Amino acid sequence: MDGAVGSIGIIGVGELGRAFVEGLSDGVADAPEIHLSPRGARTAAELARRYPNARVCADNQDVVDRSRLVIIAVRPQDRAALAGLRVDADKIVVSAVAGVAIDELRRTLGTDAPVVRTIPLPTVRERRSVTVTCPSHPAVDTLFDRLGGALPVADEADFGVFSTLTGTLTTHYAYLATLADWAARQGIPAEEAARYVRGLFQGVGRSLGDDTRSLTQLAGDHETPKGSNERIRTTWFDASNSASLTAALDGLLNHLR
Ligand SMILES: NC(=O)c1ccc[n+]([C@@H]2O[C@H](COP(=O)([O-])OP(=O)(O)OC[C@H]3O[C@@H](n4cnc5c(N)ncnc54)[C@H](OP(=O)(O)O)[C@@H]3O)[C@@H](O)[C@H]2O)c1
Repeated sequence: MDGAVGSIGIIGVGELGRAFVEGLSDGVADAPEIHLSPRGARTAAELARRYPNARVCADNQDVVDRSRLVIIAVRPQDRAALAGLRVDADKIVVSAVAGVAIDELRRTLGTDAPVVRTIPLPTVRERRSVTVTCPSHPAVDTLFDRLGGALPVADEADFGVFSTLTGTLTTHYAYLATLADWAARQGIPAEEAARYVRGLFQGVGRSLGDDTRSLTQLAGDHETPKGSNERIRTTWFDASNSASLTAALDGLLNHLR
């Protein structure tokens, strides 16, 4: 299997499709040829105007025919519309469709081509997010290396664990909103409270970029024995709260599998 990406097709040009095109093209000297499905017409036309390497195709079959690597980024409920496409075995299918197993997508497409399941995030547009892929394929790893990195996992059971982790993002935002709301209820102007909380946690985000320190070490760096952080961690994120989070993660993992 060769690791060259070649020309890229995207079927489903919505939020994620747009992020792929921007990440692969914006300010990139050797941007790949990208073939876009016509559905999501406004976004596809706008991207083709902005990036000379992107073009809108006549239909989904045209996207497949012109591409070596075909990214499927339609909503899960729209995947049945892909039945009837002819995908030859020398193509590589990259599925971003959440919750759809490799075998099921292969059956829908009726193809012997390799199908790689992935968890891309819209931050691929900044070429800064690591994308989980399953199974490993050299061309797909090369694609995601351009977009912040690939993390290939061995099987769909492990893939489910990573999918579960991505299900925690909006809880994190809700946690931050709860902190800001609490400060506002103490009389701090809401905008000031939100600005401060954003700044605090942007700092946390930057510390996370230092992968020479474990997550436990990073927590330790911010904590003084018997200090405020230790107090909140041990009085709020106590054993029962931690067990409740673990149970929610187990429940989502079972659901995804
Ligand atoms: N956004 C994320 O953060 C994220 C992260 C990981 C995975 N995903 C997965 O990625 C997929 C896309 O998500 P999204 O947020 O980008 O959704 P989205 O913004 O709704 O985009 C989906 C696009 O697919 C188009 N479409 C629908 N049926 C089609 C068909 N038969 N042929 C070609 N295009 C078709 C839609 O066109 P119309 O607008 O005309 O209907 C729309 O432009 C989903 O399966 C989602 O689970 C998303």
